[in-house]
Parts: sequence; C-alpha cells; structure tokens
Amino acid sequence: MKWGVLISGSGTNLQALIDATQEPGFPAEIALVISNRADAFGLQRAANAGIPTCVLPNKGFTSRELYDAELVKLLTNAGVEWVALAGFMRIITGTLLEAFPNRILNIHPSLLPAFPGLHAQAQAFSAGVRITGASVHFVDGGMDTGPLIAQGAVPVLPTDDESSLQKRILRMEHRLYPQVMRWASEGKVAVRDGRAHLDLSGDQLPFWFDPTP
Ligand code: GRF
Repeated sequence: MKWGVLISGSGTNLQALIDATQEPGFPAEIALVISNRADAFGLQRAANAGIPTCVLPNKGFTSRELYDAELVKLLTNAGVEWVALAGFMRIITGTLLEAFPNRILNIHPSLLPAFPGLHAQAQAFSAGVRITGASVHFVDGGMDTGPLIAQGAVPVLPTDDESSLQKRILRMEHRLYPQVMRWASEGKVAVRDGRAHLDLSGDQLPFWFDPTP
C-alpha cells in the first residue's frame, strides 16, 4: 500500500513510519513526503531513506483549496492511496478529503477529544491530568475531531515539566502511528457510521498504557 506523508517540521513520527516500512514484510511503503516548509528536518530524514520529497510552500496560493488541489495532484501522481499527516501544520480542506475519502490519518499528542489544537501537551500539563497520551484518528473537516482509531496513554508524573511530558507522549506516538499504518494497509481499519471500525484479531488491541517514566 502506497502512502504519502505530510510534514512541517522535525519529522520524528515520519522517522518512526520510515523505520517500520523498512521492516521485512511491512505492508506499506512511503511513496512521497511533502512538506510545506523547505527547512523541515523531516525532508532530510526522507531523503536519507531514499524516499522522494517535495516542498510545497504555502505562499503563492490564493486559497487553501488551491493549495490542497496541488497536494492531490502530487499525491495521486505518486500513486498514493493513504495519507498520513505527521506534524503537518495546516488545516486541510474538502479538496484533499474528497480525493482520499476516509484515507487520511492524523496523530495528535493527547487522548482526544481532550486537548485538541495546538500545544496539547502544555494543555494537559496545566490542566493537571494524571494521564494523557496520543491518538491516531481519521481526518475530517474539523480540528482533531475525526473518528478515533487507536490511543496510547502515559502518566503525568509529579516530576514532569512540559518537555519531559512531551517526550513521553512522543515515545507513545512513535509506537502508535506505525501500528495503525500497518492495520490500515492490511485493510483492517475503516469508517462506518462515523466511527472507526477495526477488524483486529484477539491479541491486537487499539489501546495501550505505558507507565514507564
Ligand atoms: C507530534 O507531537 C504530533 O502528534 C503532532 O505534531 C508533532 C509532530 O512531531 N501532530 P514530529 O515532527 O513528528 O517530530
């Protein structure tokens, strides 16, 4: 199954996906990485892995729809069937959603629907929650609102600051996203009646808790 990954920054989630796709027998390949920022380190990660990259800057597009139409062109030309947003700092429009219906995933650093939007880790930290985590979900027209596929929980420890919490969540993200990419590529994940339906075997669970500090 060919995937396109959209990034804007460091790309540690992209790296986790690249590492997974390089395992023998993994059912997905990353056909194209697109960044809206030329200085995204994730572009280097992709290039190091021999994955084609493309920079599509926001500037020069008079609307989000026109930008997304260009994204669709690039992705479909690369034969992409599924799209993973991995720190892509743009709101996407119906133009992209309609080109890949129920085939666009996102990862978010909280247990959605808690703490959507920016700085989810800081939101969790200041709310004083004892547990937070990461979520992988289908993308819909809203902000971090699409059907939830898998979630991983981590503790918030008394010794934490925002940075240590962010690292712990990121570790969970790197575990979660490749697993969902695998399930999606195997045809085990779909949307039915507005909810994510998972066709997993008994020992596969779409939720985890990692208490490691
Ligand atoms: C991650 O925390 C992800 O959940 C959020 O953006 C961040 C991207 O980090 N959507 P990276 O570029 O994958 O390191």
